[in-house]
Amino acid sequence: MLILAIETSCDETAAAVIKDGVEILSNVINSQVDIHQKFGGVVPEVASRHHIENIKSVVSKALAEANIKLSDIDAIAVTNTPGLVGALLVGVSYAKGLAFGLGVPLIPVNHIHAHICALFLAHPKLKPPFLCLVASGGHSHIIYVKGFTDFEVIARTRDDAAGEAYDKIARILGLGYPGGPVVSKYAENGDENFLKLPRVKMADSFDYSFSGVKTSVINYVHTCRQKGEELRAADICASFQRAVNEALCQHLIDAAKEIKVDTIALAGGVAANQKLRELAEKFAYDNNMKFYCPYLELCTDNAAMVGCSGYFNMQAGITADMSLNAIATI
Ligand code: KG4
Ligand code: ZN
Repeated sequence: MLILAIETSCDETAAAVIKDGVEILSNVINSQVDIHQKFGGVVPEVASRHHIENIKSVVSKALAEANIKLSDIDAIAVTNTPGLVGALLVGVSYAKGLAFGLGVPLIPVNHIHAHICALFLAHPKLKPPFLCLVASGGHSHIIYVKGFTDFEVIARTRDDAAGEAYDKIARILGLGYPGGPVVSKYAENGDENFLKLPRVKMADSFDYSFSGVKTSVINYVHTCRQKGEELRAADICASFQRAVNEALCQHLIDAAKEIKVDTIALAGGVAANQKLRELAEKFAYDNNMKFYCPYLELCTDNAAMVGCSGYFNMQAGITADMSLNAIATI
């Protein structure tokens, strides 16, 4: 079974060919990071226009790298939610056209579920149930993965997503976009005990909140600037990274203990953070749990994970017709 997968939910135009659910024949990503960098974040309308310009060549490249023709494709999978609605619409419209023209099934894919499915690409023997933290620019969810298409949201962020907080800290420090990679790079040479930052724990849930830690850092930076004091960017980044990572891992492990699962996992762009991967692995080890994480290229947005999720959706009979629409939030 050959699935052509398309992903355009944010600022990456991506296409992949996946064989039998977990074998990646190609995984092409055209990133718009350089374009959005000068704005300090993704500009939705600009992203949509670039997806339109790029999608045809990205799909052609994915087919060429997989060494197959369009007529070899058995189904088209596409991310239709959640994301920037204009950006999603480009992928959805293109996928609909292809599926209609080829007479093959159209499979809708949820972007968050796709991030989780990156784990099955990296670890084909991994099977549900397990508890997964999906942390990206738009989401920080703890999800109980009960089956390949059966996901229950256990906790979410009440304000900023973890990746969003990384992006905002990088922006206030003038380090560029996206924030995660550059903040973690600075943090390598910093003192993680430099700033005392709040950790929020709700009394009645495993939900996250990152606005407090973000605001503390922003206030500290403003005060330093007003006083003309030196900004110790490496120490600030290291302290911030520690606070976010500890909160992410603590809630995940607490939820895993309550639900009584023996496996935890990370997914999403923030899972590319090396310190987070190490901390989650340590928490799992200390609690006699197994730990999984996709390899780095599969953490951030890509279409291979969409193809894998599409495969499981198709097996479960989840397909769409030409009325499929893009949905910004779910
Ligand atoms: O999953 P993703 O590629 O796109 C969304 O679905 O949002 O995640 C992007 C987010 C950005 O906020 C970026 O700053 C963050 O993931 N990120 C990281 C790292 N690499 C990317 N955050 C922390 N550490 C990293 N190494
Ligand atoms: Zn994503």
